[in-house]
Amino acid sequence: MSSETLSNLSHEDRRFPPPADLAASANVKADAYDAAANDFEGFWAAQAERLDWGQKWERVLNWDNPPFAKWFEGATINASVNCVDRHVAAGKGDKVAIHWVGEPEDDTRDITYAQLQDEVNKATNALISLGVEKGDRVAIYLPMIPECVFTMLACARLGAPHTVVFGGFSADALASRVEDCGAKVVVTSDGGYRRGAPSALKPAVDDAVAKLAGGEHAVEHVLVVRRTGQDLGENGWNDDVDKWWHDVVDGQSSEHEAEMHDSEHPLYVMYTSGTTGKPKGILHTTGGYLVGTSYTHWAVFDLKPDTDVYWCTADVGWVTGHSYLVYGPLANGATQVMYEGVPDSPHKGRWWEIVEKYGVTIFYTAPTAIRTFMKWGREIPDKFDLSSVRVLGSVGEPINPEAYVWYRDTIGAGKAPVVDTWWQTETGQILISPLPGVTEAKPGSAMTPLPGIDADVVNDEGESVPDGSGGYLILRKPWPAMLRTIWGDDERYKDTYWSRWPDVYFAGDGAKKDEDGDVWVLGRVDDVMNVSGHRLSTTEIESALVSHPKVAEAAVVGATDEMTGQAPCAFVILRESAIAEADEPGEGGDLVQELRNHVAKEIGAIAKPRQILVVPELPKTRSGKIMRRLLRDVAENREIGDVTTLADSSVMNLIQSGMSGSSDE
Ligand code: PRX
Repeated sequence: MSSETLSNLSHEDRRFPPPADLAASANVKADAYDAAANDFEGFWAAQAERLDWGQKWERVLNWDNPPFAKWFEGATINASVNCVDRHVAAGKGDKVAIHWVGEPEDDTRDITYAQLQDEVNKATNALISLGVEKGDRVAIYLPMIPECVFTMLACARLGAPHTVVFGGFSADALASRVEDCGAKVVVTSDGGYRRGAPSALKPAVDDAVAKLAGGEHAVEHVLVVRRTGQDLGENGWNDDVDKWWHDVVDGQSSEHEAEMHDSEHPLYVMYTSGTTGKPKGILHTTGGYLVGTSYTHWAVFDLKPDTDVYWCTADVGWVTGHSYLVYGPLANGATQVMYEGVPDSPHKGRWWEIVEKYGVTIFYTAPTAIRTFMKWGREIPDKFDLSSVRVLGSVGEPINPEAYVWYRDTIGAGKAPVVDTWWQTETGQILISPLPGVTEAKPGSAMTPLPGIDADVVNDEGESVPDGSGGYLILRKPWPAMLRTIWGDDERYKDTYWSRWPDVYFAGDGAKKDEDGDVWVLGRVDDVMNVSGHRLSTTEIESALVSHPKVAEAAVVGATDEMTGQAPCAFVILRESAIAEADEPGEGGDLVQELRNHVAKEIGAIAKPRQILVVPELPKTRSGKIMRRLLRDVAENREIGDVTTLADSSVMNLIQSGMSGSSDE
């Protein structure tokens, strides 16, 4: 982060105190911070009381063998029972759990807790009929349809960890995830709706299944929801493997007696990009994860389950969809909206129409979406009655003060508090955020670690930096929803997160403490970029590029982008044979398009570079390390910084001279 940004941030002097009525009736008051600081384990034990347990724990936290934590050791619990059955048992069976809104207009479904229980139990019995047992892994590759939630909760019920793969990922990305966690069943659909048109999913599963066939991790069954009714193509159905959801699930009994699992039983694996080419399978377990997500969902959004209508716009394919669409809200017995489609189909007011229709009171989205709405203009949301909204949340990347204030003014009528929530796939739960009834918030700052969270900003030596300075964002104490390991790779878990300073979790983010000690998250300090709130690794895109036969070498940087926060920009050196074919270096629009499509095929459309520059050389230090800083200068059209450590300083002139012919599309 540049020093200019740092000093700009410190000039922010707007303050937004909580509305008086919200503060008076807030779920969490200021005393929670001290209570947690004075009795850390007692505080988390008290939060665990909001859940139903089988056996109670013997120890709140076992941290005898860091960084391998055990939370609520000795306890047993079932996540599905906590998200569904216990609400029905408490007489809330007729309460709506999910107002599901399909992308085609008028395609909606209100699912009560009692109906959710039936659907989850049927899905559980269906998975059992396909041979899924406790401990087996199930991959889920679905659009935002209710069956996705049913399947996740069915897996949780059985104790079969799920791995949800975002529907925008390619067949190769799906195959590598299915293989890494050894999933024996994949649940998918024929397709989903995107801007009014059916978009296929099943062919990607077919490719992934074919790729793994005959190997150690061959997929045994594919369970297919009929969503769009689209044609599956000539070879689109394999009777040995494929089963329709309606054939296997619909006829099942809606009764299923759930087993209580160990508190540390694996709940799910979620893959995320790291600094190497291979995605990491982040493992979350059951008891602590449910405590962390249900507490923070209740505290940060001030959830009042009987009156609030909550809406988190994240896709279930990302961690936000897991923690704050499925497990947190359902454990709390919330009523929520789940929407299948994009914000601008069939019109740009679609989200606000949904807010008005269901009377959404708590709304949680990403800065990239807010910036898009700003660009479209406030006349669009202004056409709808948004007066029900009382708390607004932001997640995924730093929210710039301009977007924050627009969000508060336009969607929150100038009075709804904005909670800027900092967390990660690895942390499982929100860790740094204002509390809407307590914190006097500053636009652009995630403010303070939540009660029970010990976060800090430190220097290279691991020492706490004084207020007014920047450094690395770290956590000193474990927290209940923390990752437990990287699936199948304990060493990588230790090296990646816990090795920089002893027993300290390093999150990969840079941050600043302002004069008051409040935290401003500045973004990644490693080779990970954040595109529309989604994490992508530079190395992963580089390996995708060099896997193309025409590419000899590639370097990728995340360049600042007005809409998406950051965008991948690639610099590639072609192989001799390809140079002979191509036009002049820097041109070759067809080739650029071919490479962009190749990245989409290897990883998914979100990873497509915004720009690809064909260059004759890459800037390297004498030891051969690519100087990404200089490439970022080029990608962001800045004056090139210090080149003295380059092995050959004329390289930058060569790259810049090729720039004029560069291609965006
Ligand atoms: O850089 C931080 C950024 O997103 C990263 C985590 O990405 P992911 O695991 O995909 O999870 C996204 C949803 C939790 C972090 O390392 N990030 C997330 N929230 C914020 C943020 N940066 C600044 N402010 C936030 N509120």
